[in-house]
Amino acid sequence: MNEFKAPKGTRDIFPPEIQKWQFLERAIHDYYQKFLYQEIRTPIFEHSELFSRGIGDETDVVQKEMYTFKDKSDRSLTLRPENTAAVVRAAIENNLFETVAPLRFYYIGPMFRYDKPQKGRYRQFQQFGIEVFADESPQLDAEVIFSAVDFLKNLQITDIRLELNSVGCPQCRPAYLDVLRRAASAEKNKFCADCQRKIDGNALRIFDCKLPACAETAGRLPLISDHLCPACRDHFAAVRETLNCMNVPFQLNPRLVRGLDYYTKTAFEVTSGQLGAQNALLGGGRYNNLIKELGGPDMACIGFAAGMERIVLHLDHLALPRAKNLFVAYGDHQWLAHAIQLAQVLREEGYPVYLDYQGKNLKKQFKKADRVAAAFTLVLAEDEVKTASVSVKNMASQEQIKISLKDLNAWLKKNY
Ligand code: HAM
Repeated sequence: MNEFKAPKGTRDIFPPEIQKWQFLERAIHDYYQKFLYQEIRTPIFEHSELFSRGIGDETDVVQKEMYTFKDKSDRSLTLRPENTAAVVRAAIENNLFETVAPLRFYYIGPMFRYDKPQKGRYRQFQQFGIEVFADESPQLDAEVIFSAVDFLKNLQITDIRLELNSVGCPQCRPAYLDVLRRAASAEKNKFCADCQRKIDGNALRIFDCKLPACAETAGRLPLISDHLCPACRDHFAAVRETLNCMNVPFQLNPRLVRGLDYYTKTAFEVTSGQLGAQNALLGGGRYNNLIKELGGPDMACIGFAAGMERIVLHLDHLALPRAKNLFVAYGDHQWLAHAIQLAQVLREEGYPVYLDYQGKNLKKQFKKADRVAAAFTLVLAEDEVKTASVSVKNMASQEQIKISLKDLNAWLKKNY
């Protein structure tokens, strides 16, 4: 019996699925570098307070989902549940505002949330995300959203829906929250216990409850879209206008609220029609006050993060190129040194080469060559070594020809 199992909510990723991950990671680097984003890598754990202050004490993420522990010096540390707060912390601490331009970052890495595991929802999951520290231009919001949708389209993920909202700003949201709380209190006993608690705390999150009775009651509550201040209203109109001009279809969802407290103005999510309950591929928005709240300059920001497990679930259709491997075989151990040298030369030429040091006999080596998906097996035996040549067997057609070593590279270039 297997004594050890991976912890609940985590998963091992191994071949052949790993190919999709590597493909996706390359696609992220290639795509976002086109917009002058640069990669940033921050620690897996941070001081817990960064997340409670950055994400908000009242959020589910902070209240229920963080992996928090004390280190041996009694410091409270937390495995990062998301990366926006950490990127902001890194920018402030290292004064990246002065040294990096443009302030456009992307990241790829594991996040940790004590969530209820199910398909597409894990306790350790991988996000890629982007963060732009710049200004309030609504055209920037549209560019960020365009990039998210376009990135998915390039991966041939087309059954998607972009939902858009504005969640207001510190000028208009407090007054709206008063109106919302009053309306929700009037119908308090129609909400579940969890939503009842949210009325006095994180009232916006009432809109997130999936229970039919709560959703129905929440459907009658006042909407932020009717309570935006003129600045937020104009900003949101310009975001929509630019998205239209970029041909990015979207649905307005005035009940779209995000699970993290730092958002201001534009909020968006992209969902997939191919996923079940956990259908959010990515989510993000503006967070114009976070840098200042965490001790940095007053600088408006926007970003999003995507769940990479959920994207990988959409990559089945991609015909990922199968590696064409070479296998170097030797007729007898006395030719192993020659085989090692040949393998080295071939790798220097850029070919993936496998050499089996235990190669007992040629038959067993050919079997191994099949298992490692070799396109060609290159055999060295007495005759080949004496004539400075190699026998090349095409593993698909089983044809074999002898080629002199000096012509091998040219032959491979033509036939590989
Ligand atoms: P979020 O909406 O909490 O936003 O997460 C972004 C994405 O991460 C989700 O849409 C989903 O695809 C994926 N995700 C979240 N939780 C899980 C989970 N337990 N298992 C698998 N995938 C999951 C953020 O994290 C913000 N930091 C996004 C952002 C960046 N906003 C501005 N900048």
